[in-house]
Amino acid sequence: MNNSEMLIIYFSHSNNTKQLAEWIQSKTNAGIIRIEPEVPYPSGYQETIDEMSRQNKGKILPPFKKVDVNIQDYDTIFFGYPVWDMRLPPVVRTFLRDNDFSGKTILPFNTHAGYGTGKSVSEIKEFAPNAKVADAFSVRDSNIKGAKNEVEKWVGTVFH
Ligand SMILES: Cc1cc2nc3c(=O)[nH]c(=O)nc-3n(C[C@H](O)[C@H](O)[C@H](O)COP(=O)(O)O)c2cc1C
Repeated sequence: MNNSEMLIIYFSHSNNTKQLAEWIQSKTNAGIIRIEPEVPYPSGYQETIDEMSRQNKGKILPPFKKVDVNIQDYDTIFFGYPVWDMRLPPVVRTFLRDNDFSGKTILPFNTHAGYGTGKSVSEIKEFAPNAKVADAFSVRDSNIKGAKNEVEKWVGTVFH
């Protein structure tokens, strides 16, 4: 595998998905980029739910902070996010819309509270229509602490 052609992109609000991203990083040595909304989501759980609902209902795609990376330099992209409302977090949709993933292979990974991937992968396909999108690797938030081996095993299978 040529690690210089792999990139990890992730969004994480409470750092669960960040943990997975870091394990993937240490296994692959790939570059790593965090998606950050220009206006951070609130720190309180209910406040975040409310803001997400407002954005989802209004079809609002909130802007993200500019990142210093050229996605065109990469072929394979590990793409991480928490499942929100059985979907992608709104700012993740913005990121997909505003970057060109044509011809890229997207390897989604996510964390969730027990309800799984939902329709987040079909949303990745919708917002990155010309990418090749794999099935998601998914970890329940309460299982993250013990999931390092599982993450490394998944990373291994990606390259066989
Ligand atoms: C706004 C919001 C919406 C959520 N929606 C879902 C959901 O639909 N299904 C689910 O299983 N977990 C849901 N969760 C739980 C998170 O997906 C889970 O805790 C995740 O690991 C958080 O990842 P992070 O720390 O990387 O942000 C939600 C959490 C938040 C804050």
